Amino acid sequence: MIERALKAWADHFDDPPTVVSTAPGRVNLIGEHTDYNEGLVFPAAIDRRVVVLARPSAEDDIRSAQIRDAKDHRGPGWRRYALACRAALEENGLSAPRIQAMVASSVPSGSGLSSSAALEVAFVGAWNAMGSLGLTPLEIAETAWRAENAHVGVRCGRMDQMASALGVDGCAILIDMRTRDWQAVRLPENLQLAILDTRQSRALAAGKYNERVHECERAVSFLSKQRPVQSLRDVTLGDLDEARGAGLDDTAFRRARHVITENLRVAEFRDALLAGDLAALGSICDASHMSLKEDYEVSSPSLDAMARSARAAPGCIAARMTGAGLGGCCVALIEAGSFEDFRRATRASYEMYGFATPSIFATRASAGAVASFYS
Ligand code: GLA
Repeated sequence: MIERALKAWADHFDDPPTVVSTAPGRVNLIGEHTDYNEGLVFPAAIDRRVVVLARPSAEDDIRSAQIRDAKDHRGPGWRRYALACRAALEENGLSAPRIQAMVASSVPSGSGLSSSAALEVAFVGAWNAMGSLGLTPLEIAETAWRAENAHVGVRCGRMDQMASALGVDGCAILIDMRTRDWQAVRLPENLQLAILDTRQSRALAAGKYNERVHECERAVSFLSKQRPVQSLRDVTLGDLDEARGAGLDDTAFRRARHVITENLRVAEFRDALLAGDLAALGSICDASHMSLKEDYEVSSPSLDAMARSARAAPGCIAARMTGAGLGGCCVALIEAGSFEDFRRATRASYEMYGFATPSIFATRASAGAVASFYS
């Protein structure tokens, strides 16, 4: 990717870049729609990255090199993300000078692998390096998150930006979104991560996402009439049942039930991973998928077919939809060495459901964002 970006740079600009900034996409192993509810998430940065080359300039000139994934819907949107990052930096009293920039990406966009978060983290990282601003990875993630919320207008949680900024090679990152404490948990060598892209674009799902955020807020505001509740993190299943008895509407009840049970599953998943209990990993992910489908209503026929196909394929340990849902990808944990057989069987079964050929690829948990001076 860096070479591709450098080549495109040389075709467009006279002077060399001063910084090289890269940031990965992410896949979430478990903990879905919990981040904006102060819950637990367990993502890993993946080996697909965004690269931003930049140098200060009198005028902004932000371009993209040709990218590997032909399915990119963003077009001129690259610039919008850069400007959102500048606005977020400047709001913090930090300087983000005008730049010449070249962007290249191997993160599929519109697939729920956080290509936008990677882009934001890479741009903030570029300005951080260029101006020696001294932002820590956590502060870079926070700035990128503010860019997305305040200036792009999606009310997302912080998971994607944190995973991209904090990723550790070979590890998934367990984050407590209430305290922002996080720890890297090494994935066993005998497990391989696979991403199963339905190719059903998520591009139109933002409205539903914001709707889910509101529904969770509605549950919190109902519950806080009974006792002090800051977020769904403060609520037990018992509290929720009581609230239903007191008149909490069924939709808000089911959204909250997903969030509460999903937090419990993240902790169980971590324990099962550390204990090497593969059967438990499988059933925890099945339960997560079911809860996202039935209670949170963010699965789709293609995601259901993909998860079912993967579960029946050789070598599969666990599979579920990942990310915001309503299109996008499933994630699977499979036995190392079984990828080709797994891919073939999953694809054949998925196509039998009548869906178009999916994109199924192996990935590895990877290091987070890095920015440095170019020399
Ligand atoms: C999107 C958002 C994240 C998170 C997930 C669902 O990726 O950007 O903040 O809410 O959906 O877990």
